Amino acid sequence: MKSPVTVAVTGGAGQVAYSLLFRLTSGEVFGDDQPVSLIIKEVPEFVGTLEGVKMELEDCAFPLLRDIILTDKDDEAFRGANWALLVGATPRQPGMERKDLLTVNAASFRDQGEAINSTAAADIRVLVVGNPCNTNCLIAMSHAPDVPRDRWAALTLLDQNRAMAQLAIKSGRPVSEVTNMTIWGNHSATQYPDFENARIGGKPATEVIKDRDWLENQFVEIIQKRGAAILAARGKSSAASAANAIIDHVRSATTKTEGDDWFSAAILSDGNPYGIPDGLIFSFPCRSDGKGNYNIVDGLKLSDYARGKLDITTQELIAERNDVSELL
Ligand code: LMR
Repeated sequence: MKSPVTVAVTGGAGQVAYSLLFRLTSGEVFGDDQPVSLIIKEVPEFVGTLEGVKMELEDCAFPLLRDIILTDKDDEAFRGANWALLVGATPRQPGMERKDLLTVNAASFRDQGEAINSTAAADIRVLVVGNPCNTNCLIAMSHAPDVPRDRWAALTLLDQNRAMAQLAIKSGRPVSEVTNMTIWGNHSATQYPDFENARIGGKPATEVIKDRDWLENQFVEIIQKRGAAILAARGKSSAASAANAIIDHVRSATTKTEGDDWFSAAILSDGNPYGIPDGLIFSFPCRSDGKGNYNIVDGLKLSDYARGKLDITTQELIAERNDVSELL
């Protein structure tokens, strides 16, 4: 039997974690021969609720589940962790943009970065979900100088899944036929869901959906504002679909990408190959070598229209970075 992979999950008493934890330990992410140990963190006010989550995890009798550690302290939350899923953060309320949370959540991502740096396993990989996730990832990474920069990502697979689903609905084709979907930039209302490089049934999506006006205007906006639409309808942020996207992200990062498809992840830009300024956590089309390493897919054609969209989301990320410059 393999030794367990240790997964740290913050925001453990929240709705996303309640959908996430059970799937992390079922075998669907790391494989059905890979034991999993969980470290579940919550802020002191809600840490009592974690006892109930732990009881339910035990009651699933998952054969692969080993230890469950509950904590409210950063210096225990990432000890020996191979994966850190930073879900916990104050969520936005109706009417807010995600970046409105920057000042509320920034300090906690600094503290988590420091704790990851000093206590996590040497092969730690981090996925930031708490919003605004791109810039929170940048903050945490800046406080973890010993953790290689290519281990850090922020979640945009939720946006990718949303985009694939909308193209499937519009075209009347199964979502499994929608491939090569990229989210560029920020997990925010400036992101660009790239319909020009997406494919449906192997053909360019723009050949299958000929309604360019719908693609440029309605489709892009639906994806950009989907989180807000869910928040307005539910009165709470997305939870099950966010957890599902976290599962998809970790599985995509730890499974060798086959064929000519890719997945979206927000990772550190070094300026290549699309000229995005270095030092931003920016969502790109990525492929994995199966060991958790992300390689940006090179050679995608970007029209003037797409370039304009990338500029807008780049400017927003630069502004967010400027807003937290004291924490970097
Ligand atoms: C989402 O996209 O649903 C999440 O990032 C939550 C939010 O505030 O939109």
